[in-house]
Amino acid sequence: MSKVHLFVGSVDGAAEYASTSLHAAFNNQGVHACIYRRPSIEDLLAIPPTDTLLIITSTTGRGELPLGLRPLWRSLDDTKPALTGLRYATAVLGDRSYGKNYCLGGLRLDSVLLAFGATRLQAPLLIDAEQTNNPEDVIMPWGLDIATQQNSTAKRAQQGNH
Ligand SMILES: Cc1cc2nc3c(=O)[nH]c(=O)nc-3n(C[C@H](O)[C@H](O)[C@H](O)COP(=O)(O)O)c2cc1C
Repeated sequence: MSKVHLFVGSVDGAAEYASTSLHAAFNNQGVHACIYRRPSIEDLLAIPPTDTLLIITSTTGRGELPLGLRPLWRSLDDTKPALTGLRYATAVLGDRSYGKNYCLGGLRLDSVLLAFGATRLQAPLLIDAEQTNNPEDVIMPWGLDIATQQNSTAKRAQQGNH
């Protein structure tokens, strides 16, 4: 059965809270999901093409990723792996008042995955802290929709094989 992998980066807990709620919702709906708070490159490379990667991260510093996602970022930069077959989508929490650094860390991670051959399921979801008090209100439907779509695609492919 296909699975959803949630890679989470959070500093003050908003992205963490929303991801934990999404993880619980997946479990309630019988969707196999696992959450990684400090994912490694090995975790990323182990995701099979039948699974889906959801990255949920906030932005810190001057457009940087939270600490938990930086080892992955550095390993991607060092090893530049081919990511053909990886299917992913990204949700980035930020604050528009940071101007050109708005959501930058997550957007960069998203672009790197795309550049290394992964399939982006949809454009990154950007969540502005000034506009959205409860990021989980946006992240929950976003994650559940993507998982439902991927599930239907997998089922159609399976039926096509029989
Ligand atoms: C020290 C600090 C630096 C931040 N830097 C940025 C930034 O460069 N770009 C941005 O879009 N948001 C920035 N933010 C806003 C956070 O990303 C935003 O508030 C987010 O909702 C925090 O999520 P978290 O609680 O999961 O860390 C910053 C917030 C703090 C406290």
